[in-house]
Amino acid sequence: MPMKKRANWGSRMGFILATVGSAVGLGNVWRFPTVVAENGGGAFVLLYLLMVLLIGLPTMVGELTLGRAGNRNVVGVFSQLTTRMHKWWLIGILPILASFAVLSFYTVVAGWSLLYVFSSLAGITADLGTTELEKLFNFLTGNVYFPILGQFVFMALTVSIVIIGVRKGIERYVTFLMPAVVLLMLILFARTLFLEGAWEGIGWFFRPELQQLSFNTALEAVGQVFFSFSLGMGAIIIYGSYLGKDSNIPMNSILISGADVGVALLSGLIVIPSLFAFGISPETGPGLIFVTLPAIFNTFPGSILWTTIFFLLLTFAALTSAVSLLEVIVSYLKEERKWSRSISAIFVGGLIFVVSIFAGLSQGPYEEIALAGMNFFNFLDFTASNILLPLGGLCIVLFIGWVWGTQQASAEITRENRSFKWAAAWSILIRYLVPISIGYILISGLLF
Ligand code: TRP
Repeated sequence: MPMKKRANWGSRMGFILATVGSAVGLGNVWRFPTVVAENGGGAFVLLYLLMVLLIGLPTMVGELTLGRAGNRNVVGVFSQLTTRMHKWWLIGILPILASFAVLSFYTVVAGWSLLYVFSSLAGITADLGTTELEKLFNFLTGNVYFPILGQFVFMALTVSIVIIGVRKGIERYVTFLMPAVVLLMLILFARTLFLEGAWEGIGWFFRPELQQLSFNTALEAVGQVFFSFSLGMGAIIIYGSYLGKDSNIPMNSILISGADVGVALLSGLIVIPSLFAFGISPETGPGLIFVTLPAIFNTFPGSILWTTIFFLLLTFAALTSAVSLLEVIVSYLKEERKWSRSISAIFVGGLIFVVSIFAGLSQGPYEEIALAGMNFFNFLDFTASNILLPLGGLCIVLFIGWVWGTQQASAEITRENRSFKWAAAWSILIRYLVPISIGYILISGLLF
């Protein structure tokens, strides 16, 4: 199949920021503190950090390398890099399912964030205590119209950016908006430290209670790493395909992963201590940040402005991630099926919007309807994060390790005289340790 030339990134910084833009999103700010709270604190944090080093970082190197070598979308890359096994395109279907499932609930949370921009701007969140903030969250999300409106606007924005194109669309804004998110979070963190009872929460965050360690927690940790690093479905493969041939892949991977872990830990260190300070239950679920963060801002002078800016930035961070998720499906339809970019974006975006309506309603009016013991929203999250993404990651590392070959991959990494000091260690990780750990945790975590 003839290949069109893909655009390269304007600068190294532009590439890193855009990839960080994909990786840093609701997964760090919203999902990480929520799963830490639900999984017993320190034990989960410990497992998460372990999974980052053992699985996340090596897989990040693998996906970037695969993308740069294949110069294609996720489905095409497999058939391109091997002539031996034409069936490998089949594993390309997994990412498309995963991306669809993730976006369907991602849009819901991003829609909430958008609703909070307007609620705080209207002064509704100002002066509320945590009990009232919890009521407000239940009101906003328990209603039929508000969430759908938020989701619609968010999806429309995502689709528009995908139509404009990756580079022009995102690179420009990420440069100044991502640092702004981090700055605001640092201020929140500093404030949290002075809340009464906060340090107890910090202890809970870092002290692993060994009886909390279980396969279930390990599976949650793996799922969180894949979700947060945007791994396991080819989003990072696509970013890699835009990378220049002389770029340093291992260094880029460390910078991207480091930034991602940093933002997640920062969010955890804001939300968890404030649970202790405000006496909020860790079992609060998906509404956690929508209760705790406005509560902290309400202790600031000019809280309306702070809260509005924060949720605006969070919506933006979600947008850069959603764009990369939609891009997975759009680039497949465009390059393998020859659909036009706009038609694919509008069609897929529309379809996901419809599914997201049900996901949104399952957090509110239709909470009781259960699938495998979970409401539809949690079902989508669980299936995508804890099953589809690790499974996708497993296929990707097996492909790199055993079909394409780590020799070939290392040769790609060391092009243009780049050094790759850990080539041997990385190769063992990719061929044995990563696939065995993922497989083991996936099976045990689902069974026990
Ligand atoms: N990593 C993003 C976040 O933390 C979400 C995301 C974007 C994603 N692209 C992805 C997750 C691809 C999995 C796969 O919010």
